[in-house]
Amino acid sequence: MLIYNIGRLCGLDRTGSLRRLSGHAADSLDCISDAWLSVEGELITGFGPMSELPDGAASHDSVDARGGWVFPSFCDSHTHIIYAGSREGEFRDKIDGLSYEEIARRGGGILNSADRLHEASEDELFEQAMTRVAEMTAAGTGAIEIKSGYGLTTADELKMLRVARRIQASTPAVVRTTFLGAHAVGRAYAGRQAEYVDLVCREMLPAVAAEGLADYVDVFCDEGFFTPDETSELLEAAARFGLRPKIHANELAVSGGVQTGVVHGALSVDHLERIGDGEIALLASSDTCATMLPGASFFLGMPYGPARKAFDGGCTVALASDYNPGSSPSGNMRMVVSLACIKMKLTPERAINAATINGAYAMGVSDLVGAIGAGRLANFFITAPLPDLAFFPYAYTSPLIRECYLRGRKV
Ligand code: NIG
Ligand code: FE
Repeated sequence: MLIYNIGRLCGLDRTGSLRRLSGHAADSLDCISDAWLSVEGELITGFGPMSELPDGAASHDSVDARGGWVFPSFCDSHTHIIYAGSREGEFRDKIDGLSYEEIARRGGGILNSADRLHEASEDELFEQAMTRVAEMTAAGTGAIEIKSGYGLTTADELKMLRVARRIQASTPAVVRTTFLGAHAVGRAYAGRQAEYVDLVCREMLPAVAAEGLADYVDVFCDEGFFTPDETSELLEAAARFGLRPKIHANELAVSGGVQTGVVHGALSVDHLERIGDGEIALLASSDTCATMLPGASFFLGMPYGPARKAFDGGCTVALASDYNPGSSPSGNMRMVVSLACIKMKLTPERAINAATINGAYAMGVSDLVGAIGAGRLANFFITAPLPDLAFFPYAYTSPLIRECYLRGRKV
């Protein structure tokens, strides 16, 4: 397949070695104007300017992009899309002035979702999550990390992760799964947090590992949830099963989560609404990605993570949706990119890099997706013609994405 008359082909990896863009390396988006892109089967095979289109490259399945721009699909490295039902009741509570923490303390929040998930069958969960996946892939997402964490019992955590593996086998998007047993203390262990940590380490982790259900491990390391010491214990137990951390940190307080993540070689530390210069310097000197979730800040009315400062300080910054029923009921990565520009003051170039190649890095798939390059998966989308890159995040509700391709096929 050949895509031709591309107004601008964006997010290139010309050498095949691009894995992430840290600090000022993310200031520009590598593009060519008036371009073509070739695909064979699931993979990108080449690209170049129209002036150098090889003879005979056009074939019966050529696609005229009509001046539209082509971007690598978004890589959404942090989601909780397996959940039952929705939590718009809490949305009303928030409108009436309750905070996320107050709702959680009243037994709402994560525990509310855990109760509903317990009642749902694996098939029901799969159907509901696949609806969300379809919505995400239609909106330009081509890689999705999926967490457990609404089970909070061994059986229900396994149920969630089996659904996640089933999604992986059913969607053309690239999927990675993360075990988040330590998302909250399960109801049966109320007031017995240490025993719950023990259950996660001694029962859940071995069971998850025995079935090969998780690629990564996560802990909600934050005020009112799990402490840095408990997080260390959990991450050490997970390391024995070869699970690398991607943790929730510094959403509710400066919790020590960033330091704990870096010490344990986390692939990413996520949220970071509340971090200072010390955390930024530490992340910049590590291989740990700083993943920020502006959709959660928007929905909960929290501060936005200092993404601009983190890039200026040399960090690898990724943007993700955090799609979940409590703090971010949306998986729209274009909205995430726009919020990052508007609220975090990222340039459009930085925001796109953070939502593509750096998102891929944060879920360990940046050799496969996140950029346009020969040998990478043909995951990309075609937009309407754009006057400038900035138009894409600026016109934030205009339906600019015309066609999405995953593994070389239109979705
Ligand atoms: O990433 N912060 C922790 N977990 C989710 C929210 C979970 C929920 O409220 O259901 C998050 O924001
Ligand atoms: Fe989250």
